Amino acid sequence: MRCTKEWILNAILKTVTGTFVLSVFTAVLGSLGFGYNIGVINAPQKIIEQEYNSTWIQRYGEPIPAGTLTTLWSLSVAIFSIGGMLSSFCVGFVSEWLGRRKGMLINNMFAFVGGSLMGLSKLCGSFEMLILGRFVIGLYCGLASGLTPMYVGEIAPTSLRGALGTLHQLAIVIGILIAQILGLESLLGVEHLWPILLGLAIVPAVFQMALLPFCPESPRFLYIVRCQEHQAKRGLRRLTGRQEVGSMLAEMKEEKRKMDMERKVSILELFRSKLYRQPIMISIMLQLSQQLSGVNAIFYYSTSIFMKAGVQSPVYATIGAGVVNCAFTVVSLFLIERMGRRTLHMLGLGGMAICAVIMTLALALLERVPWMSYISMLAIFGFVAFFEIGPGPIPWFFVAELFSQGPRPAAMAVAGFSNWTANFIIGMCFQSVADATGPYVFLIFASLLIVFLIFTFFLVPETRGKTFDQIAANFQQRSAGMMDMDLDLDMDMDLDKPSTELDYLGEESNH
Ligand SMILES: *[C@@H]1O[C@H](CO)[C@@H](O)[C@H](O)[C@H]1NC(C)=O
Repeated sequence: MRCTKEWILNAILKTVTGTFVLSVFTAVLGSLGFGYNIGVINAPQKIIEQEYNSTWIQRYGEPIPAGTLTTLWSLSVAIFSIGGMLSSFCVGFVSEWLGRRKGMLINNMFAFVGGSLMGLSKLCGSFEMLILGRFVIGLYCGLASGLTPMYVGEIAPTSLRGALGTLHQLAIVIGILIAQILGLESLLGVEHLWPILLGLAIVPAVFQMALLPFCPESPRFLYIVRCQEHQAKRGLRRLTGRQEVGSMLAEMKEEKRKMDMERKVSILELFRSKLYRQPIMISIMLQLSQQLSGVNAIFYYSTSIFMKAGVQSPVYATIGAGVVNCAFTVVSLFLIERMGRRTLHMLGLGGMAICAVIMTLALALLERVPWMSYISMLAIFGFVAFFEIGPGPIPWFFVAELFSQGPRPAAMAVAGFSNWTANFIIGMCFQSVADATGPYVFLIFASLLIVFLIFTFFLVPETRGKTFDQIAANFQQRSAGMMDMDLDLDMDMDLDKPSTELDYLGEESNH
């Protein structure tokens, strides 16, 4: 690994300019805002619920019914994902119409509108405004979660593309952590300050708007989509600091040639064509495994979960979970190219299932054994750690790996949509289901996790070290029903690994 590190360091020193660093930083501010809005709703739950209650009393002269309160709160949490669901569907369209840079620039409007609505809702005595604000900020996050990785991936030199890609996930978890820290009662998590806490969502957007004019538009977009060779060259020169950009342009030409050769595939075709049916099913299941694992139940509701578990300072425990979250995202960054996606994903799912069972046992025994609260806390930390090992980062880039240029945009849209839909279901239903089932709610997640584990074991192929062409070729082969396991697809990659590890499990596709 030594030489890999030196090689990466060399690549960084050789290719990275101030403009490039600034562009990447500016772009991931969008991911930071995304993470912030996921985490921010967690700590102030109780105070905002009181606010809803007092608004209700003011309007109707009676306290809010408990069921109505749960519904209103769940809606405030979950409507965020409806916004994300809608706008993530438009990422492809927006990024082609406005371009990556202008797309990000204009997207910040949503952050302004959403942040202001939430920040002013208390002043106006209207929970409708807060709910609407969460929806608008969801629109912002859906677009940001698509545009940021797209822009970063396109401006990154090939040698750094993977490492820079994970910065998106890292910025998200850092955003979650910042939100959790600011949500502390000693900071902004108090009765008169929570509107500021929610309104701060506009801060990353302000910075991004201020910095974007200094960042070049993605040369890859300018050249491949807009056919503006001259502007693309200028952007490349700024990003690389070199005058001679011919080799990079040649690489883009090659990509453009491949893209022109391949027909664009519509969403409907993805499901109709035998060729794509299996990879799209795998993509959807991976997104579902990320969301239905229950991790957002932890991020949205951990404070109340810790409170129920009898942890003394639930907010600090939530922050502990945020720190674990960041730490293991970094761990995964280092493991992903060494251990492979499939292995890590299964490790993550299995670990999460075990932690969920331990958590359930601990919560159930809490009455009789007081120190079980510590066990449940540790189980939650483990749950989050295993999530970031596999199911957190992997599904996002795995979809891009399963498809070639033609069907990729449609596949990304379907994957994004499934992800946000599942996110919505969790946000909306978790509190009510948890109220109904008590400590056993995590057994539901444990069973789902085991289903996803089995699915991954039998159907998900390993893609590490394979080119897009090789991956697509293998699916074609499977759909044609030819089970030629000897087909050597790993010719020049991964010579140090036993090739059986990289083979697909061929049998299932017969069924
Ligand atoms: C709402 O506020 C009233 C009066 O402060 C209180 O008695 C009631 O328990 C609160 N209801 C809920 C659901 O918190």
